Amino acid sequence: MKSQELINTAKAMVAKHKGILAMDESFPTCNKRFAKLGIPQTVEARRSYREMIVTTPGLKESISGAILFDETIRQKTKVGIPMIKVLIDAGIIPGIKVDTGAKELAGHPGEKISEGLDGLRERLIEYYQMGARFAKWRAVLVIGENIPSKASTIANALTLARYAALCQEVGLVPIVEPEVLMDGSHTMEQCFEVTEEVLCIVFNQLYIQGVLLEGMILKPNMVLPGLLCPKQETDDAIADATVKCFLRTVPAAVPGITFLSGGQSAELASARLNAMNVRFKSKLPWELSFSFGRALQQPALEIWLGKEDKVSDAQKAVYHRAKCNFAARRGEYNSGMETDL
Ligand code: 13P
Repeated sequence: MKSQELINTAKAMVAKHKGILAMDESFPTCNKRFAKLGIPQTVEARRSYREMIVTTPGLKESISGAILFDETIRQKTKVGIPMIKVLIDAGIIPGIKVDTGAKELAGHPGEKISEGLDGLRERLIEYYQMGARFAKWRAVLVIGENIPSKASTIANALTLARYAALCQEVGLVPIVEPEVLMDGSHTMEQCFEVTEEVLCIVFNQLYIQGVLLEGMILKPNMVLPGLLCPKQETDDAIADATVKCFLRTVPAAVPGITFLSGGQSAELASARLNAMNVRFKSKLPWELSFSFGRALQQPALEIWLGKEDKVSDAQKAVYHRAKCNFAARRGEYNSGMETDL
């Protein structure tokens, strides 16, 4: 195992208060978001959208790494520069999503298992040769009546651990992403219980598969009430519950926790990350950072709308959200920042 390289990459991914930009939506997810805004769902539209993001001036000030989708890592800008080279030249570490999606888990209606282990070693070797230095695999856990089941939690944890071990074998830092979804009417306490159990089982499986904790990154959900829960919580309560859950479950050897945004608004995701860092930053063994998708991109997507003359304004929105989260990592974000775009 290339242990030192993995440790160095993982550290760099969470260094200097920077965070990770998730821009690895699969075709169906990206197309769905485009369709909602009336943007054509074509290869060229996805290419120009992703070019807009990676060429954002000053992106590297707040962004340490960017997660690409297979389509994007093979694409070029309109002047012929590979997207991955644009990132590398800007000092941003390129990463790649490698699961092939969450499918129905046999015998467990309403639950999912992420696929993509077949042929993964060969795909990882190719991505490493292309210049990627980390990978991402997302597992999805649903809160509902009697779910997630042990079957779904254990199957997803084992799959994440096998993926992580394969990544480390070729020198890619695995981002391990067990996402407990926000969908539903569950309370924050229920989310806490499920997240705690999921993380315990994930780290147990990572241990069994021999994954080097210092050479991985955890990408979890925050501990939140469901979107339909009548009792919503303050940012401070969410920060307290989230940090308490992670102190119980995430070994100190893990260099960083980079949260997904999961459907929170961009502003709430920044405010909650900020609250965690204000209240706990100096007392924690790991960095608390971001690896947001929608919370970094959505405002820019709504400005861009597929129009060439909107590229510059959309890039300002990407830059702004990245800056807000960079501030949140230091506990220096405040809602006043939202007006100085
Ligand atoms: P969101 O921040 O939009 O949840 O996306 C993060 C991600 O990478 C999901 O896999």
